[in-house]
Amino acid sequence: MTMLVAPSILSADFGRLSEEIRAICEAGCDLVHVDVMDGHFVPNLTIGPVVVNAVAKAATKPLDVHLMVENNTFFVDLFAPLKPKYISFHIEEEKHPHRLIQKIRSYGISPAITLNPHTSPLSIEYLLEDLDMVLLMSVNPGFGGQAFIPSVLEKSQRLKEMILKKNAKTLIEVDGGVNNHNIKALAQSGVDIVVAGNYVFGSDNYKNAIDSLK
Ligand code: DX5
Ligand code: ZN
Repeated sequence: MTMLVAPSILSADFGRLSEEIRAICEAGCDLVHVDVMDGHFVPNLTIGPVVVNAVAKAATKPLDVHLMVENNTFFVDLFAPLKPKYISFHIEEEKHPHRLIQKIRSYGISPAITLNPHTSPLSIEYLLEDLDMVLLMSVNPGFGGQAFIPSVLEKSQRLKEMILKKNAKTLIEVDGGVNNHNIKALAQSGVDIVVAGNYVFGSDNYKNAIDSLK
């Protein structure tokens, strides 16, 4: 299966945001990855629904909203009207993940859970069948352009085994430090979708960068 590519707009030129979104969609990306940070769960602050609405208008590919926030339910309600394909929330910040998964699905949106580098896939063993995607962080969330943490490869393999054992259809996405050097190992460890910020937006040809990951 071809690797799906979701460029993270965190590394885009925000002064020309709609132009940048159109460019990555024309360059053949599969999803547009939107990082929502609240300055509490992570030490950075990004964008809210007003800007994401502008992103949604410019995008011809579905949105993949990655919440890095303390109050997940509040943010799910805030972003659901923008109809992203996925909303993912961090398991480390949620007391009632099963309930929140159902809420996301009730909006007609695919629910996903994100795991920080230290979090075991066993933490979501009994949620796997309810999830359309699991997002594995390969950097500490908060910033683009950080170095890839290689232990995500073993984690992805273990998660893939768990998914196959349960006969679930859950996809695996990896986010952080993805580039042409680690993409093969990611594909071999069962990853279906990669997020790439700096690698795509830092290149002078978005199509070549996306194609090299596929
Ligand atoms: C980090 C974000 C990532 C980030 C990826 O908190 O979740 O999506 O923008 O950027 P790169 O690919 O540059 O590591
Ligand atoms: Zn992200």
